[in-house]
Amino acid sequence: MVRKTEKLKAIDLFAGIGGVRIGFESAGFDIVYSNDFNEKAAETYRMNFDEIDESDILEVAKENNVKRIPKKIDILLAGFPCQPFSVAGKGLGFEDEGRGKLIFAVIDLLKKRKPAAVFLENVKNLQYHDDKKTFKKVEEVLSDAGYKWIKAQVLNSMDYGNVPQTRERIYIVGFREKKHFDKFCFPEKEVLTATMSSILEKDVDDKYYYSEKDKIIYPRLKEVVNHRDRFYQYRRVYVRENKSGVCPTLTASMGMGGHNVPIIRDQKGIRKLTPRECARLQGFPESFLLPENQADNHLYRQIGNSVTVPVVARIAENIRITLES
Ligand SMILES: C[S@@+](CC[C@H](N)C(=O)[O-])C[C@H]1O[C@@H](n2cnc3c(N)ncnc32)[C@H](O)[C@@H]1O
Repeated sequence: MVRKTEKLKAIDLFAGIGGVRIGFESAGFDIVYSNDFNEKAAETYRMNFDEIDESDILEVAKENNVKRIPKKIDILLAGFPCQPFSVAGKGLGFEDEGRGKLIFAVIDLLKKRKPAAVFLENVKNLQYHDDKKTFKKVEEVLSDAGYKWIKAQVLNSMDYGNVPQTRERIYIVGFREKKHFDKFCFPEKEVLTATMSSILEKDVDDKYYYSEKDKIIYPRLKEVVNHRDRFYQYRRVYVRENKSGVCPTLTASMGMGGHNVPIIRDQKGIRKLTPRECARLQGFPESFLLPENQADNHLYRQIGNSVTVPVVARIAENIRITLES
């Protein structure tokens, strides 16, 4: 039975730096437990929110530890790791020992806590992986756990979150009850009004600019990166211009160093986007703190791994309305 008088309670698994959390909090949910075992992400999370359990979720799902999770929750949130299913990764899916099995820890917790709903986020390719067998398996295990009423949709952040970033992700929302399934719908598309200039910082530190010192890449960039209103992406052998004026998908690989961070030209020269600009492209509020003691590579990785907050907030709003109806 869902309580109307108090806030709906959610648990935030694979919490990263809390993008999903901000979305659900802004829609009126109360986050009562968070988990992520990455030390750096947990540091960022703790700086912005309260405690986070840094244990491996596979341990938490075990009988002795599950008491850490409050008994009464209304929804389980999980942006589970996408690498096993990503076209960029090896695509091993459930065969990926460890990471591929994480969905089963989620299922275990669903069986133990029986919230009214579950929210999952993953790469678009989850739906096609292994001849669509992987997605069928996800539906099957959710259904076995009591969540047979499932809606899933791929939403692009530029169409649903008013941010100038193309980012297609699959969002899966499952319910125990048909009446919730009938009521819930994904948000409608909205017009993109945010522009590239709305996310750019002024007075960017010199360290983000390319120069003659970057012997191999700089001559190439100078040739191609000509427009001030476009994002560019460096590939091993060429530079790709994104003609639509929206940024290519931010990914965790931005944290691998090198030239994976999108590139722009401004009045001072050619440079990478800063971590703050990447956070803006994911719709994080300005009040969100990025730890100054962490190297940029960690921050880029965390932001690329996260979600587009306004997209999640809009879905969360519809889930709240559904559960409170
Ligand atoms: C795709 S990111 C999710 C990001 C998050 N949704 C956000 O908004 O920032 C996946 C996260 O799962 C965490 N993770 C992976 N395996 C885990 C495990 N076994 N136990 C706990 N956390 C895990 C990673 O550290 C990573 O931060």
